[in-house]
Amino acid sequence: MSLLEVSEVSRSFGGNRAVDEVSFEMAVNTLAIVGPNGAGKSTLLNLLAGQLHPNREELHHGPFATQPEAEADARELKQKNRVVHRVAERSGQWYVDYRGSIRFRGQEISRWPPWKVARVGMVKTYQIVRPFRSLTVEENLYLFARLRGAANLDEILLETGLEEVRHYPAGSLPFGFLKRLELAKGLATRPDLLLLDEPIGGLSRFEAAGLLGTLANLKAKGVRMVIVEHRLSEILPIVDRVIALDRGRIIFHGSRDEFYHDPAVRTAYLGSSDAAG
Ligand SMILES: Nc1ncnc2c1ncn2[C@@H]1O[C@H](COP(=O)(O)OP(=O)(O)OP(=O)(O)O)[C@@H](O)[C@H]1O
Ligand SMILES: [Mg+2]
Repeated sequence: MSLLEVSEVSRSFGGNRAVDEVSFEMAVNTLAIVGPNGAGKSTLLNLLAGQLHPNREELHHGPFATQPEAEADARELKQKNRVVHRVAERSGQWYVDYRGSIRFRGQEISRWPPWKVARVGMVKTYQIVRPFRSLTVEENLYLFARLRGAANLDEILLETGLEEVRHYPAGSLPFGFLKRLELAKGLATRPDLLLLDEPIGGLSRFEAAGLLGTLANLKAKGVRMVIVEHRLSEILPIVDRVIALDRGRIIFHGSRDEFYHDPAVRTAYLGSSDAAG
């Protein structure tokens, strides 16, 4: 069983398919999700974390000529962990109605609220940092540490370079520290899988290098992460696998080397100098 299995998950906003029948499995420690603005990266992370729910309710297989054929198909879908609603006859033909799924450690979580997903170990940090500004760094971490029982906050403060500012109100910190606090909040929940939305977004190259060092250390310690980033040349060195999204669809899933040589990726990134880095 993979840690995370996503099967045919979709999310639209009005007529805009932000995430369009996305399927993938994650069996490695670090996965990068990349893609241009509006590709659906944040929406996908929100779906995983329970902050959004899939809203294409029903998918269909068929038509099948006979009921037993449709039922055989339904059994196959169930074996692939799809949620089968019914085998139904419409206008003399048979269909299997089912829906996509998100399974984390074997459990179907796609309709769960975020707190419940966090309880079983999958937690997301935000693209836009949002600490409780009047609370200190340490107090912010306490709040999140309560979610799944005692985390070692001293260790997390050291690891994320926040030890020196632990007693400062979060609102008094410069942006670079707030990005670190966002990571620390995630770690304080002792996640089995940490979802990071643009952890180095908005940071200078220098600040980013520091945070990337922290992420590399966490990876070495066995912390599992899904990292959404625009800044490919900086993030790819620390990940095991890459997924590229384009207009809600996965156009590539593979290793870093394959990523740089993939024709679909090259087309999607044509003109983007960062893709070469
Ligand atoms: N809450 C929402 N309401 C309406 N449309 C939304 C909402 N969230 C996202 N979208 C739309 O869904 C699409 C995917 O957006 P998303 O934020 O997932 O992209 P992204 O890959 O994270 O982009 P970026 O790199 O700019 O952060 C976009 O067209 C966006 O406008
Ligand atoms: Mg985003």
